Amino acid sequence: MSTQPDANQPSAPESTGFETMLGKLVVDQGLITDEELQQCSNELLATRSEGEINTLEDALITHQFVTRRQLDRLRKEFDATKSSLKIPGYRMIKKLGAGAMATVILAEQTSLNRLVAIKILPQKFSEDPNYLERFYKEGRAAAQLNHANIVHAYEVGQAGEHHFFVMEYVEGTDVREEIKDKKRLGEEQALEIMIQSAKALEHAHSKGLIHRDIKPANIMLTKSGTVKVADLGLARSVDDLKMAKEEEGRAYGTANYMSPEQIRGMVDIGPTADIYGLGGTCYHMVTGRVPYTGKNPSEVMRRHLKAPLTRPDDLNPALSPGFCQVIELMLAKDRTDRYESMTDLLEDLELVQQGDPPHFAKPAVDLSSLAVRIKSDASESESPTAVPRRDSASSTNPMLILSIVINVILAVIIVAILASG
Ligand SMILES: Nc1ncnc2c1ncn2[C@@H]1O[C@H](COP(=O)(O)OP(=O)(O)OP(=O)(O)O)[C@@H](O)[C@H]1O
Ligand SMILES: [Mg+2]
Repeated sequence: MSTQPDANQPSAPESTGFETMLGKLVVDQGLITDEELQQCSNELLATRSEGEINTLEDALITHQFVTRRQLDRLRKEFDATKSSLKIPGYRMIKKLGAGAMATVILAEQTSLNRLVAIKILPQKFSEDPNYLERFYKEGRAAAQLNHANIVHAYEVGQAGEHHFFVMEYVEGTDVREEIKDKKRLGEEQALEIMIQSAKALEHAHSKGLIHRDIKPANIMLTKSGTVKVADLGLARSVDDLKMAKEEEGRAYGTANYMSPEQIRGMVDIGPTADIYGLGGTCYHMVTGRVPYTGKNPSEVMRRHLKAPLTRPDDLNPALSPGFCQVIELMLAKDRTDRYESMTDLLEDLELVQQGDPPHFAKPAVDLSSLAVRIKSDASESESPTAVPRRDSASSTNPMLILSIVINVILAVIIVAILASG
């Protein structure tokens, strides 16, 4: 959880509570960094000591860290949460955090004397009957799931004007924080997280539930290191994509891991979308970078659709070739080129964990090194054998196949000439 420089942050004379929470909200949502917040707070202290009263809101806007629209949205959500803190049967304890769409509160379920996390949806969802129908349907379906690696969904309900989702409270951290702390994770840890996440999603998929928002923030880790996939069954709003495209903030998380078919707005989103999201999460874990960057979410989305992926081992040469191949196959742009199921993915991840080559992911073909190999193999009078890697994005390209055929014919001619000479 991000730190809030409360001690240094002067409170505005007419604080509404929103101003006090604002620093935490903007950092939690990835709109600004801790350092940028500290910079604003310091400037604010300086101007106030000169008798000039400014607010954190002003400072954030002056520095273009956030837009007026983003602030308005944050304020609405904050007000909505404040008025929704009463849910019969639960005693609210404290706010755990807030994402782009909702606020999460730690509470005690009094009848069972257990701690739970309650996600309060912003009021605007009440206005969309289609979304609400899916929210209840998926929430109830998620409550049927029972898996050690899934944050258990207990209940969906309504209190006043607000809809909420009650779930298992996970004490620990999440993969987003883990990446923030360590910059990037070692292969062993990343593989373990991937295997447990894939098991969770294999279970959900077998019950007909697709997550649709797999990303580091939704992969929680308990203190003992068990993975808990969060937000399963939390239906996504059709607004999400629109908002992700429009939002001017620099770190609207979801765009970084969204599958090309979701970006295109296709309706038949299946298990392969979660495979892509998990691939993006894994890429971020092992390289310290998201698969595609851009100056705004629309540009990031365009790159998911069109840009070639920088190979994970170009960013982290310590990665095993097998693990790289698995990650690249998960991130194939065309979903028919990806793993077909979490079960297939799990098979490969477990093979890589044992130190064996993956079964489904294959090494990519690198034409320049292929040509060199053919020549040197020919001069040793041996036929060309292994090719170094499989390029999942271009493996089905007819031009590529034609080039390979031409190269093989060339190799045969060279061998024939050498043999006759
Ligand atoms: N079941 C839980 N147990 C404990 N803390 C939780 C739980 N679910 C969420 N949280 C906390 O609440 C924060 C907000 O979660 P939320 O799911 O709203 O947003 P997010 O996943 O970070 O991002 P986004 O809104 O983009 O999906 C999380 O970062 C986490 O710290
Ligand atoms: Mg979440």
